[in-house]
Amino acid sequence: MKNKFYITTPIYYVNAKPHIGHAYTTIAADVLARFRKSRGEEVYFLTGTDEHGLNIQKKAEDAKKDPQTFVDEISQEFKDYWKKLNIKYDHFIRTTDEKHKSSVQKALQTLYDKGAIYKGEYEGYYCVACEQFKSEKDLIDGRCPDHDIVVEKVKEECYLLKMSGEAQKKIIEKIKSDEFRIAPHKYKKEILSFLESQELRDVSISRKNVSWGVTLPFDKEHTTYVWADAFLNYLTGLGWDGDANFFQSSAFPLREQSSRNSSKPSFLKFWPADVQLIGKDILRVHATIWPIMLLHLGIELPKMIFVHGHILSRGRKMSKTLGNAISIDEMLEKFGADGTRYLLMSAGTFGEDVDMTMERMIEKYNADLANGLGNLISRTVKLISNSKFQIPNQVQNPNDKISDFIEKIELNGALNYIWKIIRQDDKYIEENKPWELVKSNEDKFKEVMQKLASDLDFISDLLVLFMPETAKKIKKALEEKKTDVLFPRIK
Ligand code: MSP
Repeated sequence: MKNKFYITTPIYYVNAKPHIGHAYTTIAADVLARFRKSRGEEVYFLTGTDEHGLNIQKKAEDAKKDPQTFVDEISQEFKDYWKKLNIKYDHFIRTTDEKHKSSVQKALQTLYDKGAIYKGEYEGYYCVACEQFKSEKDLIDGRCPDHDIVVEKVKEECYLLKMSGEAQKKIIEKIKSDEFRIAPHKYKKEILSFLESQELRDVSISRKNVSWGVTLPFDKEHTTYVWADAFLNYLTGLGWDGDANFFQSSAFPLREQSSRNSSKPSFLKFWPADVQLIGKDILRVHATIWPIMLLHLGIELPKMIFVHGHILSRGRKMSKTLGNAISIDEMLEKFGADGTRYLLMSAGTFGEDVDMTMERMIEKYNADLANGLGNLISRTVKLISNSKFQIPNQVQNPNDKISDFIEKIELNGALNYIWKIIRQDDKYIEENKPWELVKSNEDKFKEVMQKLASDLDFISDLLVLFMPETAKKIKKALEEKKTDVLFPRIK
């Protein structure tokens, strides 16, 4: 029976076009999905766009466009960039898809009928860039610390989702036991200390004065709070129609005993998600509202939420709102798709913040790609092209070592491992001087080149997840014994 693997990224707001922070999460998900596919697993990789809410409504107004036209354009830009970056998702969900909207309504009706949602009032602060309610202690001088904007004071009638009591207790237990795993460990600790230190406040799941959203099925004067709408994408993106009964008792045993055959609907085949990748800015909502919605609906929780750090620029989270973002265009133009993928995935430990500047990226590109990998390829290929050398069959067993890193989502660890081989090979060339051996000692020359060619072939297999086009070019260069310069130096 084939193992299944369901991986998601957050769905991105379409208030502006994507920047490298969004590309960071999406490329990482692509690497993980490619890895599982290469192992023969049945993979479903979901990404998409989050298109409702006040922020987007306002941005569309500013642009003097009707909101649907506005979100259509930006959502398309996300798709275009993902294509340019060679991201192979299985489905791209948009929260303005009719099917998504009707499924959200069905799910909310169920929550309302069960009494998990009730009518009340909300009074507090709201950060329109986070699209999140804030308490006084979340703020610095009345401003949202993430976006540096003044929050709005709101008091309005709304529908609330029950968060405290039983639900809160269950979430704590499931996080503790790793049944609902939050990784890396420091984020698990952080969220547990948050959950254990206070009783959760019920959250508003509707807005009365925001027209750009999914209308509540049980009260047409309200639209769904954008996060409640957004979370359900992880299920509707699998084709779920909002009927929670599908997941109940009768469906579970059926799912477990029979093979995950194709006649089964995708959401039963793939749910629960195996890995949900998110940035640390949205951990709290993903570890509270999201699992509590699922608990109320009687649906299993995802197996793991993996949290990564932020890309910082000048010490602050890179974001459009702060205006310190590096554009994907700029990266693509300078480094190409593979270069961009490499630079983002090797920028630092996935899970920790990484600070990126263009200068440092150029330096790293020149050192690791133009010099390191690029030189190894061109030297090796040049030496074998000038001789009667036959390329050996692959002798090394690929992937063993790198699998460990990728399974633990240590993506830059995997790249460091590959670059260690590259550096060793460089040293090996310097020590053995094959350009001299070719004249003086043919047997030794063959032995040296055999090792180098086989290492390069191995490197190409390891790199394919991160740099798919480069991996192909390495194979081709070895086969045809010629190569163009793959990574010209950047000044
Ligand atoms: N729409 C919500 C998510 C809903 S998921 C049910 C949202 N969107 S967002 O566009 O603002 O950001 C989404 C994600 O983009 C972040 O959580 C993070 O994964 C990624 N990043 C955005 N800026 C980033 C950095 N500067 N650095 C790293 N990742 C960043 O929140």
